[in-house]
Amino acid sequence: MKQIVVSGIRSTGHLHLGNYYGALRNFIQMQNDFECYFFIADYHSLTTHPDPKDLHPNVRSILAEYLASGLDPEKSSIYIQSDVPEVCEIFTLLNMHAYIGELERTASFKDKIRKQPENVNAGLLTYPVLMAADILQHKANLVPVGKDQLQHLEMTRKYARRFNTIYGAELFPEPDAYKFHGEPIKIPGLDGSGKMGKSEGNCIYLNDEDKVLTKKVMRAVTDQGPTEMNQQKPEVIENLFTLMKVVSTPDTVEHFNDLYNKCEIRYGDMKKQLAEDILKVTAPIRERYKEIVNDDEYLRRVAAIGAEKARESSAKTLREMREIMGFKKF
Ligand code: TYM
Repeated sequence: MKQIVVSGIRSTGHLHLGNYYGALRNFIQMQNDFECYFFIADYHSLTTHPDPKDLHPNVRSILAEYLASGLDPEKSSIYIQSDVPEVCEIFTLLNMHAYIGELERTASFKDKIRKQPENVNAGLLTYPVLMAADILQHKANLVPVGKDQLQHLEMTRKYARRFNTIYGAELFPEPDAYKFHGEPIKIPGLDGSGKMGKSEGNCIYLNDEDKVLTKKVMRAVTDQGPTEMNQQKPEVIENLFTLMKVVSTPDTVEHFNDLYNKCEIRYGDMKKQLAEDILKVTAPIRERYKEIVNDDEYLRRVAAIGAEKARESSAKTLREMREIMGFKKF
């Protein structure tokens, strides 16, 4: 039977390299081999209270970035999360078996309490349950995500297992994390902090103009340089190499690694090469994005076709859940 793939990205603005290499690039590769549902998580974006004026433009830009990057509406169902409201009912049903204690222990929740103490809303607490509903509504087997989402995915597996066990049903498969090449990854920030992310304010965007992007890369934090042969790299330097490993050829990485080991590296040269290699990936996406982003007719058509297919699949799962849980019509 064909494996089912589900994944999404929150609509909080333009996509950055973390989104691209952690998720989107894998979506593009997977669409050829699997039955895929790729959505834009606009409900999830509400946890940080975006201005209503920004909600739709953010969805539009991500949809255009999905398409500009090579997601194909003929191959995958590409849809907006809120166009499939069945997910909200599935979320309600799953919530009855999600426990406050386990939700409070989630790393992303604890992180948000630290980052936005003035807005610790229930949507943040139940965020992993809505994500489980996103995934389970299509009975996904595989979920391409970056490393930071693995705990959420583990919770999805737990909710699937719990539902099946409690009701003695075999409704949900337990989905696995999936990356086309190897393990899920974390793209680092180039400012010395751990991960590239919106709330970290250190993003390189797919949509950055050449000059802006190059400037961001050239400003990456480094150190004084190695002083001993084959010395271990400090985190900021390891970060540069991590990014280079995903965007550049193995030969290029090898070249700079050798120079580092011989204490001959010039970080300026490495950054210049890195910026060039990132631009090779992002510049064509940016060009296509400009052609697509204002094509209302095309975007409407893609979203409508995607939503229709996703609703069909979601409604079927919801009917099955209702029946298993004992709902009946008079
Ligand atoms: P979000 O919007 O924070 O991120 C979207 C995807 O990008 C990946 N990502 C990264 N990967 C590597 N390095 C980084 N620095 C980096 N930053 C972001 C994330 O791992 C993710 O795969 N909860 C999800 C959205 C979501 C979802 C789902 C995903 C909602 N429902 C169902 C899969 C299935 C999220 O917040 O992603």
